[in-house]
Parts: sequence; C-alpha cells; structure tokens
Amino acid sequence: MRIEDSLEGLRAALAGPRRVGFVPTMGNLHEGHLSLVREARRQAGADGLVVASVFVNRLQFGPNEDFDKYPRTFERDAALLRETGCDLLFAPDETVMYPEPQAFHVVPDPSLASILEGEVRPGHFDGVCTVVMKLFAMVRPEFAVFGRKDYQQLMLIRRMAQQFALPVRIVAHDTVREADGLALSSRNGYLSATERSEAPSLNRVLRAVVDTVRAARARGTITHEALAQAEQAAMAELAARGWKPDYLTVRRQRDLHTPATAELEGGEPLVALGAARLGTPRLLDNIEI
Ligand code: PAF
Repeated sequence: MRIEDSLEGLRAALAGPRRVGFVPTMGNLHEGHLSLVREARRQAGADGLVVASVFVNRLQFGPNEDFDKYPRTFERDAALLRETGCDLLFAPDETVMYPEPQAFHVVPDPSLASILEGEVRPGHFDGVCTVVMKLFAMVRPEFAVFGRKDYQQLMLIRRMAQQFALPVRIVAHDTVREADGLALSSRNGYLSATERSEAPSLNRVLRAVVDTVRAARARGTITHEALAQAEQAAMAELAARGWKPDYLTVRRQRDLHTPATAELEGGEPLVALGAARLGTPRLLDNIEI
C-alpha cells in the first residue's frame, strides 16, 4: 500500500486509467470501515485502485465538540488498511487540506441538513459536505463507499453528488454490528465496561419501534398517535436506563421528514433513527422499515 500526504504525491499515485474506488474516513478505524474498503475492492475489481483517506476534519466539529481529543491512530489505521487490501492511503494534514482558511463552503439543503443530527450539531453537515466535495476533487473516484450507519450523512452526500452532477457514484454499505446488535462506531471505544453492556439497548428499542410499526401496518391500524407513543416509550426507556436521548423517530427514507398519514398507512419506505448519549459517547443507529 502506498501512502501519500501531499496533493502532488496523490496525483502521481492516481496516474493511469484504473477504476478508482474511494473510502473517506477520519481514522480510528474499526471493522465497519474495513468492510467499506472490502466493498470498494469488490466493486473496483482486482485491477482497480482502492483509495482510502484519513483526515480529521476540523470543519465538521462544533465549538463544544472536542476536535483536539479525537483519537489519532495513524500507524494502526495504516496497518489495518494495508491488511485489508487498500492500495493507496491519502493522509493529508491541515496544511494540505486547508492551506488557507476554507472560504468557500458547500451549504447543504437545510430541509435535510438542519434536522435530526443537524439540529443537535449545527453546521456539522456543512463541514462534512465541504470536505467530501474537496476529497472528491482531489481523488476523482469513479465511486465512493459510505456506511448506512450515518444515514443522514449518506443521504446528504448522495444529494450533493446528484445536485452538483459530480462524476462519482455513491455506494451505500450496510452497518456492521457486534453480535449483541451494537452498531460498530469509533465512539464505542469510549464506553466503560458497564456502558458497553448497556449500549445494545439503543438498537433493541429501535427494533421494538420498528416491530410496532410493522405489526400495526400489517393490521391496518397504524396512526400517528400510536407511532408517537412507541417513539416516546422508547425514549423513556432509554432515559430510565441512564441514557440522554436526542431523538428516536420514524421518518420517510426519501427525505427524513415525518410521513403523512396516507404514507404511514401505505407502503412508504420508512426508517427509524435514534441518537442518544450514554455517559460521554453519543451513539447513533437506524433501521429501515
Ligand atoms: O463519516 C466520516 O468519517 C466523516 O464524516 C467523513 C465522511 C470522512 C468526512 O470527514
């Protein structure tokens, strides 16, 4: 695996007509990231070039989120990527990514970027879209792989690629879970042993809401009131178990807005999304319905 930290080095490594598949990351890698790299290899083929980036993007951190404390585990990340069959690791520092203050930003559609995660973390998705746009311009991949765990991020990146007619195909990859259902996340590393045993509850209460919706849809008895009750019961259960839930809600898959009654009753694809703090770490999960 070749490692490049400059734009010139990256361009030299990208020279030639190979199919480029790209996995952007902020490092601190786990099996979830590695599954994205394997998917990139599967789609790029043996002759393709699988590129990953490691860059902790200051622009997507809020003033109260600890950018400086984000774990930097470069040697380990590089070793894992090498073992997983990544061909090229692009690891720019801030002087390469932001040689001068980034004055041009991607401002994503607020109807998608200011709800849910965007409401809790104002400006977060501007930072994500800006760095992803810049990474796409640098790496010029044919396709890029993102995890479904960050559901809203994936949707925004898809919309950005579509609206700017970017020549990149966005590939979604399923969430990787521990045996007890906990979605893999860099933040799981911050959980104490007690919190770790509690952490699968987020997935469990989300599944309970999903089961309620499925059963009520099958019986033809689904209502907004019943849905709101299921969502509130799930939030209350998490709170009683020591979590601080930000949201736990069922939305339309297509735009993450609340389904209309006819959509709730009909076959509109839905998704249950949850975010809650357990001690210090804030965990996210979602299940499509
Ligand atoms: O999902 C992430 O790790 C980051 O948001 C991304 C897409 C690498 C942009 O910094």
